[in-house]
Amino acid sequence: MDFTLSEEQLMIQQAAKDFAQNELLPGVIERDDAQKFPAEQVRKMGELGFLGMMVKEEYGGSGLDTLSYVLVMEELSKVDASASVVVSVNNSLVCWGLETFGSEAQKQKYLTRLASGEIIGAFCLSEPEAGSDATSQKTTAIDMGDHYVVNGTKNWITNGGTAEVYLVIAQTDVEKGHKGINALIVEKGMEGFEIGPKENKLGIRGSDTHSLLFNDVKVPKENRIGEDGFGFKFAMKTLAGGRIGIAAQALGIAAGAYELARKYSKERKAFGTEIANHQAIAFKLADMHTKIQAARHLVYEAACDKDNGKDYTLSGAMAKLYASEVAMETAVEAVQIHGGNGFVKDYHVERMMRDAKITQIYEGTSEIQKIVISRSILKD
Ligand code: CAA
Repeated sequence: MDFTLSEEQLMIQQAAKDFAQNELLPGVIERDDAQKFPAEQVRKMGELGFLGMMVKEEYGGSGLDTLSYVLVMEELSKVDASASVVVSVNNSLVCWGLETFGSEAQKQKYLTRLASGEIIGAFCLSEPEAGSDATSQKTTAIDMGDHYVVNGTKNWITNGGTAEVYLVIAQTDVEKGHKGINALIVEKGMEGFEIGPKENKLGIRGSDTHSLLFNDVKVPKENRIGEDGFGFKFAMKTLAGGRIGIAAQALGIAAGAYELARKYSKERKAFGTEIANHQAIAFKLADMHTKIQAARHLVYEAACDKDNGKDYTLSGAMAKLYASEVAMETAVEAVQIHGGNGFVKDYHVERMMRDAKITQIYEGTSEIQKIVISRSILKD
């Protein structure tokens, strides 16, 4: 497998690196502290084309491949995972789903604005009692002929307060189980659609996570994505690609924490020498570097599978499972290498340790990834 990056991919990677250093790093600690959404930074990422990276140019996107998207996710996540999750959700869960399965009218009306970053979107699958068990949807979308009436609650929705467009998964026909589920486009401001309180989170505190309340919301039929009953498949197919984005986020957190730990170990002295000269520290760095490189290969492979038209459900799940484990482990070790300094906010690694945890939970927990992987390898 050859992961040699093209000139264009190297330029995109550098642009993301520069953006992360110049625009995300200043204020990242304060935003985390205050749970402040990086609105200005998101606007600028839209201008750079980071919010609709894989969308065709005719729909306002950058027309790039998945590997370029992964490179950007990695660089942004080295510095600010709260900002990078906005990029991941908008690209993978909102734009990709709309471009792949939406009608031409939906693409013209919503995708063009989402891909250009004029507005951002949210993906609404999780519910108070339907997290991992995603088929147990309690939110209903009752068919009223020319429209649906939506009732229910969605939980832990990324971009919940800041999005303008919400892709909402809801049950239309209970008898049909997951085949009776639909995906609907709901706009902010539709009557009966309320944004619930913001969550006070352990990590990615700059990300805007809310519950959403639907009380007799009338959604026109033309806002349904795909055929009647396609909603669950829509969610699963969309999440299969979303997991590559989160895997890249996890990779970035790991690589960012490792780079800080490596630098610190060559500056900090103990027992008369830089701590990197102590084998206890050098071996930690060796393990971190090795695991990050292994995670990077899994993430790039999943991205290339998607770009080459291969099935990426298995490779994406493996990439997310492994990269998120490496992110957590690496961030914990980065704090350890920093010692007392690692425990205070100024050195960034404690935030990365808190941010890493969510990569093992959202877009399918590690346990769900193992379900996806085991079913795939055992199916014949
Ligand atoms: N592609 C296409 N179809 C798929 C699919 C995929 N990757 N995975 C499943 N399906 C289809 C199945 O084929 C099946 O359809 P048929 O009956 O027609 O064959 C249907 O979906 C139901 O599948 P299962 O029988 O396998 O369903 P299950 O109840 O056993 O659950 C699961 C499968 C993989 C566990 C699924 O429920 C799942 O992925 N759960 C986790 C949900 C999740 O990731 N939530 C994250 C929330 S979003 C988020 O975090 C976003 C954010 O804001 C950051």
